[in-house]
Amino acid sequence: MEQTAVITGLGACLPPLVVGNEDLARSGLDTSDEWIVARTGIERRRRVTPGTATSDLGVAAARAALASAAVSEVDLVLLATTTPDRLCPASAPRVATRLGLAGVPAFDLAAVCSGFVYGLVVARALIRAEAYARVLLIGADTYSSIVDPLDRNTAVIFGDGAGAVVLERGPMDAAGAILDADLGSDGGGHDLITLVEGGSRYPARLGGTARQHRYLHMKGTDVFRYAVRQMTASTQAVLARAGWRADSVEAFVGHQANQRILNAVADRVGIAPQSRIGNLREVGNTAAASIPLAMAEAPGVRPGGRTVLTAFGGGVTWGSVGLTWPAAMPVHSEPAPPPDPQDERLP
Ligand code: COA
Repeated sequence: MEQTAVITGLGACLPPLVVGNEDLARSGLDTSDEWIVARTGIERRRRVTPGTATSDLGVAAARAALASAAVSEVDLVLLATTTPDRLCPASAPRVATRLGLAGVPAFDLAAVCSGFVYGLVVARALIRAEAYARVLLIGADTYSSIVDPLDRNTAVIFGDGAGAVVLERGPMDAAGAILDADLGSDGGGHDLITLVEGGSRYPARLGGTARQHRYLHMKGTDVFRYAVRQMTASTQAVLARAGWRADSVEAFVGHQANQRILNAVADRVGIAPQSRIGNLREVGNTAAASIPLAMAEAPGVRPGGRTVLTAFGGGVTWGSVGLTWPAAMPVHSEPAPPPDPQDERLP
């Protein structure tokens, strides 16, 4: 039988600090619990405390995924993130070494909120090409490090977290098999979700940019419309490729961005209400971590059940994957302590 990548382990890590909507309103942000719940569906989100970075969440989620798969070694580590510990180097080699995997190839993959879905497609391609037999894919982000606490457009939406999966070579009929995929991008939308200062166009050392350029900036209404349109089209493309009717899907996991976006996409595609999986209310938008975190917290989906994941993010990027629900039992973990207190200071 044709071989593909099969999800054999699933891990998650959420930082312990819970920030409720009322906490944001009390902190001076001009918002209210009522507005946030009505317009986004989010009630609370998790945030790291100072000294905890993306790799600390990623290492913990990765350890959990390895435990879930009952393995300790992999051939490749992929870290989907847009909030690496440092702009240079990538965080994946450090994560791999902290997992006891020094020497294994490791790189970051930056596709913003579509990063995990992009990572699944890259991992599948490399496994199918027999380049690697077992891949660890982590989606980890710490958006609290780039969100303006005074910007009510973004501060209410984003949270921190990490999720990870182990992918191994296996048959198409295995529970957790990646079957079909659709990816896309449109750089015409690069201003819709952006952090301007600190890249090569506007190096941080030059400074002098407006506040909105020093933090993540989002054109919320445009993103909303684009996300609904493109996640709907991408989901439909994957369903067509798989030959699945929408009402046969047992688990639909959309990128946890906004409940109104998720409802609009699922309604347009025709996904049954009981098949819609999500934890947005509890964790907000955790960017590249959002889909594996939602999968790790999904209640009782049948292993082998038809599953569609769909995401949309800055770039803009989008992607969907058709798979069967994995048999792996998810494992949850606390953030890993930084390996060396020096990591928290400037060298
Ligand atoms: N609290 C209270 N009021 C707020 C607010 C907040 N956090 N954010 C915006 N408002 C106000 C606006 O100022 C506006 O007031 P006005 O009518 O007096 O001008 C009103 O609420 C409506 O604003 P609007 O921006 O049109 O609201 P919206 O329904 O589009 O919701 C978002 C705003 C950001 C929640 C929504 O656009 C969204 O979720 N977009 C997609 C974001 C996303 O998914 N990003 C990640 C993709 S990977």
